[in-house]
Amino acid sequence: MSWMRPLGGTGTDVSAIGLGTVKLGRNSGVKYPQGFELPNDHQARQLLDQTKDLGINLLDTAPAYGSSEERLGGLLRGDRNDWVIVSKVGEEFSEGRSRYEFSPEHTRFSVERSLGRLRCEHIDVVLIHSNGDDMEILQHYGTLDALAELKQRGLIGSYGMSVKTLSGGLEAAKCCDVLMVTYNPTQQEQEPVLQACHKHTTGVLIKKALSSGHLNPAVPDPVQASMNLSLGNDATSAVVVGTLSESHLRSNVAAARKALEY
Ligand SMILES: NC(=O)c1ccc[n+]([C@@H]2O[C@H](COP(=O)([O-])OP(=O)(O)OC[C@H]3O[C@@H](n4cnc5c(N)ncnc54)[C@H](OP(=O)(O)O)[C@@H]3O)[C@@H](O)[C@H]2O)c1
Repeated sequence: MSWMRPLGGTGTDVSAIGLGTVKLGRNSGVKYPQGFELPNDHQARQLLDQTKDLGINLLDTAPAYGSSEERLGGLLRGDRNDWVIVSKVGEEFSEGRSRYEFSPEHTRFSVERSLGRLRCEHIDVVLIHSNGDDMEILQHYGTLDALAELKQRGLIGSYGMSVKTLSGGLEAAKCCDVLMVTYNPTQQEQEPVLQACHKHTTGVLIKKALSSGHLNPAVPDPVQASMNLSLGNDATSAVVVGTLSESHLRSNVAAARKALEY
């Protein structure tokens, strides 16, 4: 299987690994095993340079990731077109707390704010950042219609949802361009969602592939095991891994490339 792969039926190709950028902008209210400092601009620049050198073209961000969007906007100046950028709508994080807003008005406001923060005229993919009420959001808030209108206006390329429930994932697979799904050796409840995405040619971005850093010490090579699982599934477009570590990034890419050999 190849390193560059179609993101469902969007017409966009993404690398098998994407870089998650929570850790570029937020270090409170997160569930990683260890605390960490946000990188300075020089360190963040180096991480992005290395990301590109490793053949990665996919970056995942969100308004809820603190200063992540704004920092990417500054760091990517001049080479925006080299990247496929995924952002989100619906979750806001401030003063240490998340709040959720899925109305069409907020959706339009949020995407326009993301465009400003990212300093670009187009975001490749925008996902609804679910609070867990996936079905309610899909059926009653008008968020998808607002995203469809933003796509029509050319402000975003495609849209979908970062899902949290099985029923929501199965529903979203039918009406979205792209889903973000949790999938790792200890959390495989969303497997039917991956199958549904494959059937509907919906793009799949895997989140928490490394269990947000809570890797199983009893497994000899847990990173390889995770990549084999995620990239061994035909539905997967890319695995979005969050890291600030250049050596972890290199190992993740090596493990992904090895997984793709089989
Ligand atoms: N939409 C949503 O609701 C949602 C929710 C969660 C995540 N996401 C997206 O998905 C991305 C990934 O999720 P995630 O960050 O929660 O989990 P993850 O990618 O499974 O794990 C990231 C954690 O694993 C560590 N790590 C990375 N590579 C490693 C390696 N080779 N060996 C050991 N540890 C390693 C990282 O620490 P180091 O910095 O030390 O490498 C980090 O603490 C996020 O960045 C975000 O973009 C979306």
